[in-house]
Amino acid sequence: MLGVEALPGSAAREQLCGRSPPSVPCARQRPPRRARQLEAAAAVAPERQASANGATASDGSAFIRPHLRELAAYTPIEPFEVLSQRLGRRPEDIIKLDANENPYGPPPEVREALAVMPFPNIYPDPETRRLRQALAELHGLPMEHLLVGCGADELIDLLMRCVLDPGDCIVDTPPTFTMYAFDAAVNDANVLTVPRRADFSIDVPGIEAAVAARRPKLLFLTSPNNPDGSLVAEADLLRLLRLPVLVVLDEAYIEFSEERSRVAWVREHDNLVVLRTFSKSAGLAGLRVGWGAFPLALISYLWRAKQPYNVGVAAETAACAALSNPGYLQRVRDSLVEERARLAAGLAGVPYLEPYPSAANFVLCRVGGGRDAGQLRDALAQRHGIMVRHYTKPELRGFIRVSVGMLAHTDALLAALAEL
Ligand SMILES: Cc1ncc(COP(=O)(O)O)c(C=O)c1O
Repeated sequence: MLGVEALPGSAAREQLCGRSPPSVPCARQRPPRRARQLEAAAAVAPERQASANGATASDGSAFIRPHLRELAAYTPIEPFEVLSQRLGRRPEDIIKLDANENPYGPPPEVREALAVMPFPNIYPDPETRRLRQALAELHGLPMEHLLVGCGADELIDLLMRCVLDPGDCIVDTPPTFTMYAFDAAVNDANVLTVPRRADFSIDVPGIEAAVAARRPKLLFLTSPNNPDGSLVAEADLLRLLRLPVLVVLDEAYIEFSEERSRVAWVREHDNLVVLRTFSKSAGLAGLRVGWGAFPLALISYLWRAKQPYNVGVAAETAACAALSNPGYLQRVRDSLVEERARLAAGLAGVPYLEPYPSAANFVLCRVGGGRDAGQLRDALAQRHGIMVRHYTKPELRGFIRVSVGMLAHTDALLAALAEL
């Protein structure tokens, strides 16, 4: 950064915009509102900035951007080792049904490929060509539409960094995946909340009204939705695609449904982005690989803004190896779908639980019968070493979400629930 600042103006701009293709104007070349804001901020003495932020000049936190001071930290899942210590159980004695992970893991080809992985000492391919080529062939669209990230999570943030100015809006439809609202807050954007109906379906007229009133830039739709597993109907998606908003369709769990993916639709809809992941059906959550299909006019900007080496050699190697065994992926998917039905039926037989229909690898349950969902979660963890997801958000108070595991996991859970 210092090197860039030391250059005379136009050269500095070139450096900053180094990854721009010539035809597209670089944001920094149009002296923008943001640049004026930055200049104004730079003109304020550090002490004044510090006191305005409520911290002292000697305190490193004085330099934190004001909107981040109010940000509530994302609560991630506890790592296995930490959990194992807290519960006083060996990791292999814990049944982890709280993060929609895949208990079968990836095909054996993944470990084989990782064991002989060439060149871990060399930076990875910044364009993940091998993986994008394989995905393009699998999904029948040119690889130019595809971008791979360190999980779908990275792509959500990347998209927001490219699209949102501070104060811009996104539409969120809770209860849904909480990273959309979290990343919006990190990016200093506003969240327009259009709550789902009681059956967790999206409120299409409500979204249309929000778009008309506030002109948000991004609309996040999740199909199947996390945490309930409901799908977005095709007619609703088509209707929402007519709005002047960039629609991000998150299909992290699509493999577990009977729906086909809308990945290829990005060729016809220039306001559609489809996100996918290797974390769920491919069993690679720990290696962090997600990908997205984007309209061509949009993707070139994402390439410029992404970290060059965002996907490691191990992650790309593992994802390619996973794709090399579609038969395994299909068998695991079928087992989980079959187990989902058994789990849902078992949960429906527990007098104080009401499971919701799900097209994903988890089942959401309302906890009734005068029981407290948080206490139920704690009792399952402490007495039985079974982890399920519980929520503190008001719209999900009184619910737990159970990921689909193996047959033995369902049996252990149902036995524990009968005992509690
Ligand atoms: C709906 C949804 N999208 C995206 C993700 C994140 O996927 P990844 O592991 O690829 O970052 C999750 C993870 O739970 C999810 O539930």
